[in-house]
Amino acid sequence: MKPLFASSTVAVPETAAVPRHVAIIMDGNGRWAVSHRLPRVAGHAKGVEAVRVIVEACARAGVEFLTLFAFSSENWRRPPDEVSVLMRLFMSALEREVEQLRLNGIRLRVVGDLSVFEPRLQGLIRESESRTAVNTRLNLTVAANYGGRWDILQATRGLLRDQPELAAQPERLDESLLTPYLSMAFAPEPDLFIRTGGEQRVSNFMLWQLAYTELYFTDCFWPDFDERAIEQAFDWFHARERRFGRTSGQLSAKAAG
Ligand code: IPE
Ligand code: IPE
Ligand code: MG
Repeated sequence: MKPLFASSTVAVPETAAVPRHVAIIMDGNGRWAVSHRLPRVAGHAKGVEAVRVIVEACARAGVEFLTLFAFSSENWRRPPDEVSVLMRLFMSALEREVEQLRLNGIRLRVVGDLSVFEPRLQGLIRESESRTAVNTRLNLTVAANYGGRWDILQATRGLLRDQPELAAQPERLDESLLTPYLSMAFAPEPDLFIRTGGEQRVSNFMLWQLAYTELYFTDCFWPDFDERAIEQAFDWFHARERRFGRTSGQLSAKAAG
């Protein structure tokens, strides 16, 4: 299998003023709720509204891929009540929003280990993906029961299943063999990573693909993250010098030449 996009550690990718792929850890719902004297779950409900706003803002700005971390493989450690509210919200958001996504030209994909979700949710995910499959304006991916380490492991298992002879010749294993098996193989690596909610960590999100991504952290809680806030992130991104291992001098020489 040939990878669809160049890996940033193998070749220098094309870059543009607007990030082609934006990956977001939507964090701070619980603290937003607490700061408004509301139960944590009210923050998650409000967070769904922010998703709607940011999806449209990204589509308008010309972003091609938007990936949202909705539920991590570690979020099962939360109190069962909160987990079940999150599952219900996910389900109702799919039911309510997919028609609008379809009409707005947005293609939805869900990545993660979906096998543990209840059959009705799995069916809803498959149906939402197929209803929006012809759309090309924006590729929206929701990461649910996703973990970066899970992704690398499932890719490795898939590769070895297809090419068991590799186990006897490990020196043949390289990035181009593995990356087509990653769950986000359909997308280029993210240009811009955003984490709302003030924490400065990646919490097991897209570990492989973040190798050369610009990392943007903001104290803004996810339910307050709006079009103006994402434009600020885009402005910050625009001012970055992406070197991919090269020197600043090489970049200015290239720009001048
Ligand atoms: C992010 O908000 C949503 C999920 C992890 C599902 P949090 O629920 O983590 O909010 P904080 O970090 O507790 O404020
Ligand atoms: C990361 O947020 C996961 C999602 C936003 C889905 P968490 O709130 O779970 O991350 P930690 O626990 O603070 O690292
Ligand atoms: Mg959190």
